[in-house]
Amino acid sequence: SEITYFNEIESTQTVAHELSHKGVKEGHVVIANEQTAGKGRLGRKWYSKSGTSVSMSIILRPELPPQQTPQLTLLAAVAVVRAIKSNVGISCDIKWPNDILLNGKKLVGILTEMQADPDVVHSIIIGIGLNVNQDSSEFDDEIKEVATSLRIVKGRVIERAQLIAAILNELETLYDLYLEEGFKPIKSLWEANSISVGTYIYARTMREVIYGFAKGITDDGVLLVEDQQGVTHKIYSADIEI
Ligand code: BTN
Repeated sequence: SEITYFNEIESTQTVAHELSHKGVKEGHVVIANEQTAGKGRLGRKWYSKSGTSVSMSIILRPELPPQQTPQLTLLAAVAVVRAIKSNVGISCDIKWPNDILLNGKKLVGILTEMQADPDVVHSIIIGIGLNVNQDSSEFDDEIKEVATSLRIVKGRVIERAQLIAAILNELETLYDLYLEEGFKPIKSLWEANSISVGTYIYARTMREVIYGFAKGITDDGVLLVEDQQGVTHKIYSADIEI
């Protein structure tokens, strides 16, 4: 696949949106050494200073109804977990939908956005931000307590290029599997690496906080939480606290 590389850019996600509009091919990847205005989920900022993180956005063009796009978010999380396992030898946990945690701290954030009409998806842009070589003093105050990096855990600097290649390989393998066999095999892999099903959680949505038992995910990738009155809620977007 083709790669657009920047030493410094505001956000690979923004560039990927522009390239997608211009009609670049599926699989196009935008990578930056440093982002000056990285975007996180729910309008948050994402910190990615020079040389220490992996920041990239991948453009996919599956033929999908919009409600199935969460499946690809989960697919991306599985791909990153597998790449870290094979490349660095560390097992991470996925917290729904797609935070990747190590020792309870955030290692990777994934932001999935789409360009779509009500009934058809034109493209899905998967943004992956991975903390690689930060040491603990390099994280900003706001995230110090909750963030970690591969270097902090492994005690050595990690080669970013190889890790990026591993992630893109895993993504391609899983995406091909998904196109051939659907979401089922991806769902199993996601569940096997997830710490947010089969346990009690708080789900903070835009409107309310739901406390209950996370029963699993649906075939669309939506989280099912049963509250203490026995009512099952479908969670489409939320922050999960375990
Ligand atoms: C989150 O956990 O809130 C998601 C963070 C996603 C960050 C990545 S870094 C590459 C891509 N470009 C961005 O501006 N954001 C995503």
